[in-house]
Amino acid sequence: MRVNSWNGWDPLTHVIVGRADGTMVQAPEPTVVRDWPDDGFPAGAYGPLPDDMVQAANAQLDAFADLLRSRGIRVDRPDVIDFGRPVSTPDWEQGSMFGCMPPRDVLVTVGSEILEATMSYRSRWFEYLCYRPLLDSYFRDDPDMRWEAAPKPRLTDDAYKPGFWPEYEALGFDEQIARVRENDLALTEIEPLFDAADIARCGKDLFVQLSMVTNRSGVDWLRRHFPEHRVHPVTFGNTHPVHIDATWVPLRPGLVLHCGEREAEEDLVQYFKINDWEIVSAARPAKTWDELPKLCFCSPWLSMNVLSLSPDTVCVEAGETAQMELLDSLGFEVVPVPFWDVAPFGGGLHCSTVDIHREGELQDYFP
Ligand code: ARG
Repeated sequence: MRVNSWNGWDPLTHVIVGRADGTMVQAPEPTVVRDWPDDGFPAGAYGPLPDDMVQAANAQLDAFADLLRSRGIRVDRPDVIDFGRPVSTPDWEQGSMFGCMPPRDVLVTVGSEILEATMSYRSRWFEYLCYRPLLDSYFRDDPDMRWEAAPKPRLTDDAYKPGFWPEYEALGFDEQIARVRENDLALTEIEPLFDAADIARCGKDLFVQLSMVTNRSGVDWLRRHFPEHRVHPVTFGNTHPVHIDATWVPLRPGLVLHCGEREAEEDLVQYFKINDWEIVSAARPAKTWDELPKLCFCSPWLSMNVLSLSPDTVCVEAGETAQMELLDSLGFEVVPVPFWDVAPFGGGLHCSTVDIHREGELQDYFP
């Protein structure tokens, strides 16, 4: 086996798919207080997601894994640990962990390197442990694999802006977007913080979204860690930016799918345009906010959280007909995959996976 992946579209041959088992509505922490009074989790309450939801999500995850295997792709799954137990470091105690569904949030493969992100929620600090048995086996089997972990963050109270959410929620849309553009959000700059899913890989260029879970120091750390790459901090007109893969999804050289209602910065648009990339607006999602599954903290735009199997084949959630038709008209073979039951566990088809091997070598798509 070999670890190798430079972008999100080269032919996929080896991937990790997450699991729903044991996922928690996590205990409150400085920037996350879940509040779903109608679904049994009023503010501050925490506990495992209901069994029937876990079973439904696992059925879809297992079917997705089987579908990938039927196409000759090796699929590995993480280890489930007891996410319900409290955890601590010398700096803090946290009532519970979260789960191991969106592996994309925790790991990023850049060439022969797999990098463990810092993460920025205390509930997700230990999530890398779910992937350690796999990472250890890749390290043994591939003599060229580079296994890296970004500095484990301390996540003291000083990493978070005190009283952020009530103050932010009181702002209007334009004021919130101004804050997003400045990355004046939930995190301070006391240490580098990033989630892997804020990174979009395009060969020599890495686009990193500044978000609720990724700060400027995090991007600076990535820039120094990948000196051969161009690392671009980017923002979008999204009031709640968390992970780039429902906003800006490169599908093949020259084509990026963009969530049109989350405006891209002019610099980013120009960078793509002068390099002859087409920026295609994603289709309207099939679901409205009200139609999302219960306990879902993602948006309807999971509709564009697609997984490319190759530059001409893409997996799309099976109910997202408008999205499927758009991709079909752009010349893709579209593979429909039922997946909305997985959303309450943290995401869609792209979030639920992490590339371990795609064919192809490092290229410069923005010469
Ligand atoms: N926050 C995004 C949205 O709701 C979802 C991104 C999920 N991505 C992930 N890698 N977990 O639009």
